[in-house]
Amino acid sequence: MNLGILISGRGSNMESILKAIKKQKIPIAPKIVISNNPDAKGLKIAQKLGVATKVIQSKGFTGTRWEYDQKIIQVLEENGVTPKNGLVCLAGFMRIISSEFSAKYKNRIINIHPALLPAFPGLHAQKQALDHGVKYSGCTVHYVDSGVDTGPIILQEIVPVKDGDTEETLSKRILAKEHIAYVKAVKLIAQGKVKIAGRTTSRAR
Ligand code: GRF
Repeated sequence: MNLGILISGRGSNMESILKAIKKQKIPIAPKIVISNNPDAKGLKIAQKLGVATKVIQSKGFTGTRWEYDQKIIQVLEENGVTPKNGLVCLAGFMRIISSEFSAKYKNRIINIHPALLPAFPGLHAQKQALDHGVKYSGCTVHYVDSGVDTGPIILQEIVPVKDGDTEETLSKRILAKEHIAYVKAVKLIAQGKVKIAGRTTSRAR
């Protein structure tokens, strides 16, 4: 299986995935990291880890969402990350992808979200959770479908909310769990252990 990772910024989830692939011998080949933002810090991290990078700038792009996504697909395919044998990880990729892209790569694109979906989808999930006053939040790795943060859930990690937590402190503890959850999910998929039936996923033995 071939892996493509889409980022926009810091790239800490990308980094933990790339490092774990090497260390844990996860059967997937990291082929390309694509950023829509030329200043994404993650680009340098990927290069240091020996993974090819490509910038497809979205700022100033005047075409449709699908036209932009077709540029991404072209680069994915050139690097062997196809709908047949590829996995695409969205890792802090700050764009909503088109329904055409998610349909073409059905069950081949996954995302990490910093809340326990279906609670608090969209932006600023950690702040949404704090503002709501929940006692537990966490993170969710899910397949990407045509909605925002709506696809079948692969796994979740729970993070208790502490008295006095701020968006910053909660985000930091959730991020530590994100790094663990995202690696676990990539590993399960690469090993062919995730079965999907409608909205539900389970572990194949
Ligand atoms: C993470 O909190 C992730 O859940 C969200 O965006 C953030 C990306 O962080 N989708 P990083 O770029 O992986 O460090």
